[in-house]
Amino acid sequence: MALASSDSESLEWSLPVPSVQELAIQKLDKVPLRYVRDDLDQTTPSNPSLRVPLIDMNKLANPESHEKELQKLHFACQEWGVFQIINHGVFDESLSKMRQQVQEFFDLPLQEKKRWAQKPGSLEGYGQAFVTSEEQKLEWNDMIFLKTLPLQDRSLNFWPENPQEFRKTVESYSEDMRNVAVSIVRFITMGLGLEAQKFCDTFKEGTYEIRMNCYPPCPEPERVIGLNPHADISGITLLLECGDTPGLQVLKDEHWVNVEPVNGAIVVNLGHIIEIISNGKYKAPDHRAVVNNSKQRMSIVTFCYPNPSADIGPAEKLIKSGSPPVYKTLTNAEYFHSFFNRKLEVSFIDSLKISLS
Ligand code: OGA
Ligand code: NI
Repeated sequence: MALASSDSESLEWSLPVPSVQELAIQKLDKVPLRYVRDDLDQTTPSNPSLRVPLIDMNKLANPESHEKELQKLHFACQEWGVFQIINHGVFDESLSKMRQQVQEFFDLPLQEKKRWAQKPGSLEGYGQAFVTSEEQKLEWNDMIFLKTLPLQDRSLNFWPENPQEFRKTVESYSEDMRNVAVSIVRFITMGLGLEAQKFCDTFKEGTYEIRMNCYPPCPEPERVIGLNPHADISGITLLLECGDTPGLQVLKDEHWVNVEPVNGAIVVNLGHIIEIISNGKYKAPDHRAVVNNSKQRMSIVTFCYPNPSADIGPAEKLIKSGSPPVYKTLTNAEYFHSFFNRKLEVSFIDSLKISLS
């Protein structure tokens, strides 16, 4: 999720802010000051033909093409930390159904959506994340955030009942995403030379959260940000585009590269937990979302975490003389506690490194 706060209060909940969809309807010429981000890094995108790697999961599964595709995946994880997957095993109809339900939810009148608004003390529900002060600059984004798996983590009071099939669709979508996570984690950890089954199991028993993002069109798109630059704290993140409007950008060799939507594909983004497990071989990339002045964009983002009873630390197999652990090993509770109570001056991942002094 995005990291954005101007002081060091706990980031476990967020102040209420205006709906960006409602602002967009007003057809303003200029965006309100609270959204103006003239501090933004306007680094020009690198070579616009640069594409994030595309991985074919059928090729990974097929013994004849496995080796070559695994090499490609290993390269993608090392050089990019983000890639798109096709032939991931989820039916197109399931993905379309999910997109349609999310679209219908955001199309509801504001008062109706507010039935599932965030409440003080919780990040779940409809609203915005990580707003801790009235002065803080805001993102050009409305979202709804839900914990989806395991079942006992669900707070159904934040789960919309309108549209009617929303809950059912999210339920089945979250299971689909768990299956995708387990299969791709198998290959990611294989690429690292680890016992893949162990990592599959921990993601099977993992926790899953979903963040549905709505980025309305903006009259001054270059002066705002849809989502601040950040790296995800998940194991991996699975992003589904709802249309063909680009907006996601990933930082590669100090340039922002557009992640162009590919029909039927899912974007896989490595989070800090995989970075830690890999002992830094794989990096969780910084990414952000930009907006445009004509089209609304929506994305459906699933954060996938390993079993919370497992410690988070570099895989033992990767630690040997000559390659000592770069990161500390923490319990799940310690990991989240460090995240929600981190000092904003230091990067979160750097704070988890073992200091050499
Ligand atoms: C996120 C995220 C990007 C997007 O929700 O963590 O990075 O394009 N979203 O919506
Ligand atoms: Ni993200």
